[in-house]
Amino acid sequence: MSDFVTVIMAAGKGTRMKSTLPKVLHKVGGKPMLGHVLSAANAAGAGRNIVVIGFGADVVQETIGPEAEFVVQREQLGTGHAVLQTRDRLAGYTGTVMVLSGDTPLLQPELLARLFEAHRREAAAATVLTGLMPDTTGYGRVIRDSEGRVVKIVEQKDASPAELAVNEVNAGIYCFEAPALFEALGRITCDNQQCEYYLPDVVGLLVKAGTKVWAVAADDYQDTLGINSRRQLAEAEKILRARKNMALMDAGVTIMDPDSTFIDAEVTIGTDTVVYPFTWLEGQTSVGSRCAIGPNTRIADSAVGDDTTIHFSYAHDCRIGNGVTVGPYVHIRPQTALADKVKVGNFVEIKNSLVGEGSKVPHLSYIGDTDMGTGVNIGSGTITVNYDGKKKYRTTIEDNAFIGCNTNLVAPVKVGHGAYVAAGSTITKDVPSSALGVARARQSNIEGWVSRNKG
Ligand code: UD1
Ligand code: CA
Repeated sequence: MSDFVTVIMAAGKGTRMKSTLPKVLHKVGGKPMLGHVLSAANAAGAGRNIVVIGFGADVVQETIGPEAEFVVQREQLGTGHAVLQTRDRLAGYTGTVMVLSGDTPLLQPELLARLFEAHRREAAAATVLTGLMPDTTGYGRVIRDSEGRVVKIVEQKDASPAELAVNEVNAGIYCFEAPALFEALGRITCDNQQCEYYLPDVVGLLVKAGTKVWAVAADDYQDTLGINSRRQLAEAEKILRARKNMALMDAGVTIMDPDSTFIDAEVTIGTDTVVYPFTWLEGQTSVGSRCAIGPNTRIADSAVGDDTTIHFSYAHDCRIGNGVTVGPYVHIRPQTALADKVKVGNFVEIKNSLVGEGSKVPHLSYIGDTDMGTGVNIGSGTITVNYDGKKKYRTTIEDNAFIGCNTNLVAPVKVGHGAYVAAGSTITKDVPSSALGVARARQSNIEGWVSRNKG
């Protein structure tokens, strides 16, 4: 089913957000509100999405990318004026236009599909999606006649006391037959409290002209919440995160305490993984099956394999293999890949490095710009000295090398296959394969020194 195009209104500043960022780019569940609306539209079968941009047009277009077409509304004269800007782009199109708002991030595809189906079934010129809101503040009210037919939509600021008492609101989402839409848009005026061209006025005009107007009520008011303020943003955030956790649990993930677990919209997790409290999984992160993640862990834009444990740690822009143990208190920084069965723990930072299969960095180390082979053992307190104040250099540690505790590896430097480095060494020259590198002062013991210096 792909027989409608969408027009998504996203040109407003979002004054009530008190932000320099366009409202539709504020994130819910780690994804811009407009991104959620586009995803829902696509999943409902939209053949084409046209986004009306204005305030912060460049940044909106850049964030959303080639997924949509864009039309600019130079002055924000109202939602009706916004949709009117797409008239040329849709010239000759006689099908259904689904109009959406960029600030309703909780929409679900099933609801949009239901709206479209009802619109088609009823052969209506316009079908409006409505919601029964516990708090109707700020929404347009849907006014019906004694037989329940929609008569018009009245904005809060223009409503009479009786109209204000109506709790069925306009969700700001509609299906229109394109010719009827643009014909009526040509006739709306800005004769209202806000001196704006209201899209909902189209509904009243079509009813007056005797054209069929239909309404579909959302079963769950949360789906159609419009976000105009930071308070509403926080409300949406809570709902979206609860939904995400629910979906993951339904798919076989254990979430020990959903209220203290924050998983972004696009994160994927395999079955039988357990997520412990105070864990954030963000952006484009994937976690495999049978992992234990958290407590107190943040993973962003990273891929984690199966059977891996990560606790009390932060990892971002990295790849972590299967059967890996990370933590406690580890920071895995960008461009790092930990191969299978690696162990990293206890106050270790790793950056821009490859750590080969089965290698261990168990305590108090900084590993930066390093290529580490398989089966390597890094002693406690080992530091790669990768920066001379101007440039960064790489360290190479080949398979099965053994680095003693408290070693400095001054890059560029290489420790060969199977080589050993004595504890406490500052290594500035390559250590050949199978050799022992020692770089520290020899110890001398002064016999009887203590008794001679006493008293
Ligand atoms: C709108 C509806 C209201 C409905 C509510 C649902 C109108 C006049 N009112 O009110 O009936 O209950 O949504 O959430 O439509 N926009 C533009 N250009 C403009 C003005 C707005 O693109 O000139 C965009 C905004 O960026 C936003 C969307 O249209 O994404 C809705 O605008 P907003 O100002 O939030 O409308 P509401 O006051 O919430
Ligand atoms: Ca709104």
